[in-house]
Amino acid sequence: MSRQLSMIRDVDRHKDGTVTIGCWLHNKRSSGKIQFLQLRDGSGFIQAVVVKSEVAPEVWEAAGKLTQESSLYVTGTVREDSRSKSGYELTVTGVEIIQISSDYPITPKEHGVDYLMDHRHLWIRSPRQRAILVIRAQIIRAIQQFFDERGFHLVDPPILTPSSCEGTTNLFHTKYFDEDAYLTQSGQLYMEAAAMALGRVYSFGPTFRAEKSKTRRHLIEFWMIEPEMAFVTHEENLEIQEQFVSSIVQSVLAHCRRELEVLERDTSKLEKIQAPFPRITYDEAVEFLQKNGHEFEWGEDFGAPHETAIAEQYETPVFITCYPTEIKAFYMKPDPDRPEVVLCADMIAPEGYGEIIGGSQRIDDPELMEERFAQHELSKEAYQWYMDLRKYGSVPHSGFGLGLERTVAWICGLDHVRETIPFPRLLYRLYP
Ligand code: 4AD
Repeated sequence: MSRQLSMIRDVDRHKDGTVTIGCWLHNKRSSGKIQFLQLRDGSGFIQAVVVKSEVAPEVWEAAGKLTQESSLYVTGTVREDSRSKSGYELTVTGVEIIQISSDYPITPKEHGVDYLMDHRHLWIRSPRQRAILVIRAQIIRAIQQFFDERGFHLVDPPILTPSSCEGTTNLFHTKYFDEDAYLTQSGQLYMEAAAMALGRVYSFGPTFRAEKSKTRRHLIEFWMIEPEMAFVTHEENLEIQEQFVSSIVQSVLAHCRRELEVLERDTSKLEKIQAPFPRITYDEAVEFLQKNGHEFEWGEDFGAPHETAIAEQYETPVFITCYPTEIKAFYMKPDPDRPEVVLCADMIAPEGYGEIIGGSQRIDDPELMEERFAQHELSKEAYQWYMDLRKYGSVPHSGFGLGLERTVAWICGLDHVRETIPFPRLLYRLYP
């Protein structure tokens, strides 16, 4: 007979009733006559109380055998308890052991980062890591909802590609039978083709960059959301981005209060994230940096300290717009009034989390695109299909890419992106 199981997150529906939960022992303490079991089932955590004088001897004994991460079915009565975090407690009537866990490698004591990373497959069971992954899932839900409500279609660009999108320095090379291929750096070029077919599209997929940089913001494999929109100009692109990011933050606040609490996130900072966001031009940013003691020349790209210094001026994300054409990707449209800069923007998150979005209006003029191919020494044959988009009914269009992990790091208030993805791929880390 199949067992009727309840989930910890739903115990409020069974107040004063009896439930059975499939779970793991997170922690235990005992006063001799009472055992307090901290249980987790993935949906939440709950304290279960086993009182020696009130349960059968075998139940008391089974509870006594449980080690950290042992798996069990627990049966008990749901009691409202204002002292507990979940608001409920379980008075145990039955314990059925599934497996007594071997000595668990992650104990409540402190562990070093490398040790935890080697045990990532177990580390994700901890309340903190669980909270992060729950928030990540909510962010993904919010992203899909935002685009679905606005008439966008989800399109999946390829992962194996014959050419680059964001320069050739960090491509992952592989063989594709007799040809050379690369893991995708960005689906953008394909999304441009899709926008000409479906109008407004977005992709959500893995992205690979062989970055030899070991920073708290860089992953080798990360997930990017890339919307692309026909007939949308630079200014409209920014408006969509600020609404998009505000809606993600507000959705997390609405659905993940408990998880934010576990992470001790200062939610008053997140509550301020409402569109519109401030905008400054690259020129203004350079002037600000120079006035504030940074050695910085017009034409250089910003590093993390520069982005942080600029972002510190604001409580919401800030757009830095119109970067020098020279330092940006080949596909960005030059400002018609000032072709030395392009109609692009990076969105910099507050609190030092750095760039979370890169976007731009795209070149729609075939002649200029030809020129760019020559300047960037890109093979015309490889990009022939991309040129076709400028030949057959070219239209103004724009898009952007949001880095999921940097967004999770910011919303969760984490020091490093390694905690934002279930199994991070970092420089020299491919295990587990
Ligand atoms: O600014 P990027 O390189 O933009 C593009 O790839 C465009 N083709 C997007 C587009 O317009 N469709 O990357 C976009 C975002 C960055 O703002 C950052 O959030 C994230 O992707 N990102 C990374 N996240 C983690 N680790 C890395 N190594 C990242 N590189 C970029």
